[in-house]
Amino acid sequence: MANRRLAPAAEQPQSFAFSPENAEWARGQIEKYPEGRQASAVIPLLWKAQEQNGGWLPQKAIEAVADQLGMPHIRVLEVATFYTMFALEPVGRFWIQLCGTVPCDCCGAKELKAALQARLGAPGHVSADGNFSWLEVECLGACCNAPMVQINQDYYEDLTPESLNRLLDDLAAGRPVKVGSQVGRVSSEPKDAVNTLTDPTLFDGSRVGAWRKRFEATKADEAIKQDEAKSSEARAATEAKPARPQAGRPVEQGTADGPAQRVAAGETPLRESDRADASERGTSQAKTAAARPGDSPALDSPAERAAAGEPPAKTGTPDAKTGTPDAETRALAEDAALRTEPPQHPAAAGDDDAVPEAENPEARADAAGERPQGLTAARDDRPDDLTKIRGIGPVNQTRLNDLGIWHYDQIAAWSPREVAWVGAYLAFPGRIDRERWVSQAADLAGTKG
Ligand code: FES
Repeated sequence: MANRRLAPAAEQPQSFAFSPENAEWARGQIEKYPEGRQASAVIPLLWKAQEQNGGWLPQKAIEAVADQLGMPHIRVLEVATFYTMFALEPVGRFWIQLCGTVPCDCCGAKELKAALQARLGAPGHVSADGNFSWLEVECLGACCNAPMVQINQDYYEDLTPESLNRLLDDLAAGRPVKVGSQVGRVSSEPKDAVNTLTDPTLFDGSRVGAWRKRFEATKADEAIKQDEAKSSEARAATEAKPARPQAGRPVEQGTADGPAQRVAAGETPLRESDRADASERGTSQAKTAAARPGDSPALDSPAERAAAGEPPAKTGTPDAKTGTPDAETRALAEDAALRTEPPQHPAAAGDDDAVPEAENPEARADAAGERPQGLTAARDDRPDDLTKIRGIGPVNQTRLNDLGIWHYDQIAAWSPREVAWVGAYLAFPGRIDRERWVSQAADLAGTKG
């Protein structure tokens, strides 16, 4: 890159002023900008001054432009010395700017530079015949057609030292020259064989057409789907079908012996056994065993929490390390949660403690199976915690104890007929099998052993 200095004083003119025609043109340029922004016209005015001065900018022209725009001289000098489009020294009839930036350098700019040096001497000097001067500049934006030079206002590309010398010969002789690529390239097309974008479908419209067809087919499919959806909605509105009564919901069975039926039959709403059982429960159990028909809804009870999909236990103290409820709370919660299940037997409908409906539950149980052998008391006075069996809460544990059932191994040994007897006695036949009391008890008995 050449030094950007003003020409020696000996070459500088004493004054500069725009010609009347150029002065008028300059005023037009300045008027393009709002008041206070006239400095924006500095480059066009410098360019016009250079053109008027034979292709280079003398110091006086720079100062005249600065004065006209109300700018400090140094500011305009900074602009003139920054852009290589402004020649600061006298130039030949043909001013050659040789691009020496990397792409051109890689493609032979060095050889062009050597050719210019050999023909015209050092840059920044006018040739003896006054025809040429040259300067190495930075990228001129024609990298695709490197290497290249700009001569006055035209680009000459794809040059070799030979073609450049030939070009200068023609210019000097006044012969017509070819602007642009010197190897016949059109614009920036590939220099050698075309090896990209060779697929003819890129240009015959078939590829774009194929894409458009797929796009339109997709849109058509969507339109069909939307039409089908609309017609389905319309059919649903006009041809409503009754929902299947048992689809996705618990089977609701009629209550054979509920409070309403009992009242209708002239009996008390609650059975004697219910009343007795309720009195035995005490306040806290009554609360945790909510969700039976006729009860007031227990706020935040295990049953409610279980039904809401939350952990059932809240009333007990959670384990300090694991955060799990204590055994009593867990058993109460399980018992309460089980009571929220749909009744499986008319006698148990709505009765979560499965109180026998007959006056003599043992008689009904005897009809269903065989009473399991009971103990008069727990062995060593150490009964097992039967509430660890899922489905057995404190109430049922007491009732099992009343039957002489105190230990896991007793339940684990129940035969099917004994299971049927206990199920009938507790008035929830089938639930013992469903909840796998026997296998749970066997596991607990094995763990205990
Ligand atoms: S590098 Fe030479 S024109 Fe861009």
